[in-house]
Amino acid sequence: MIVYETIEVTIEDSGVATVLLNKPKSLNAIDLTMMMELRRAFESLDVDPQAHVVIVRGSGRAFCAGADIKWSETLTKRDRLESNRLGQKTFARMEQMETPVVAAVHGYALGGGLELALAADFIVAADNAQLGLPEITLSAQPPYRPKITEDGDPDQPEFGGQAPGWGGTKRLPERVGKAIAKELMLTGVRVDAERALRVGLVNEVYPVDQFDEQVAELAARMAAMNPYNTRLIKELVNHGYDMLEGHPS
Ligand code: COA
Repeated sequence: MIVYETIEVTIEDSGVATVLLNKPKSLNAIDLTMMMELRRAFESLDVDPQAHVVIVRGSGRAFCAGADIKWSETLTKRDRLESNRLGQKTFARMEQMETPVVAAVHGYALGGGLELALAADFIVAADNAQLGLPEITLSAQPPYRPKITEDGDPDQPEFGGQAPGWGGTKRLPERVGKAIAKELMLTGVRVDAERALRVGLVNEVYPVDQFDEQVAELAARMAAMNPYNTRLIKELVNHGYDMLEGHPS
């Protein structure tokens, strides 16, 4: 079993694998270490026959508050481009996994946190979820700038980057349509679980006090399906071609 510093990966006998973002003090903000660990986890789970479904979750009061701003503020422009690329590759790798992946979101799923969730096959949410791509607000004029960047110069895109950099600009419009995606990205507003359900950003909303058991039930059901068939269905949906014969391994 691989030991990670910022995430925890478990695989139950039932076939349910969980990737838990585990930096609750910073609301599971993603820094370089976490991004590299996520990549390694997705790669190893995808070839692990024990893992029939992967659930991505956050520990503490949030799913994930996005890129770790304290880390990203220290980056040079060149490093920033590199980190965007690493994030894009990691989330693309996750999206391309043959094993089904579900993001189970409670509390905040913002910025890179929502981009991570969007790279899953689908998202389920607790009724306290708040989702959004607020990157644009990091360099906005007050009062729209979050307190984490309030000391910065609003003209400086260094405070968090100019646009969502880890695939959200592509995946959010695919999920909810261009107009709603543009509204969310151009205003940085957060949507609650009810609106997220209405616009198709999340598939299902569960009361927060039943979230763990509802997610466990969904995961157990998916893990009980024949993994050959779950992989086949992903392949057919993702690539949209007719395939009467077996799934290439
Ligand atoms: N990067 C690094 N640290 C973060 C973070 C991020 N993206 N988001 C939150 N944190 C840290 C805070 O600095 C704080 O740490 P501290 O206790 O050491 O000061 C801790 O997480 C709790 O955050 P706080 O702001 O006190 O909680 P809150 O409930 O008042 O607000 C948010 C929560 C998510 C609304 C707010 O933290 C926020 O707006 N974060 C930035 C979100 C964002 O823009 N993400 C996109 C980045 S690309």
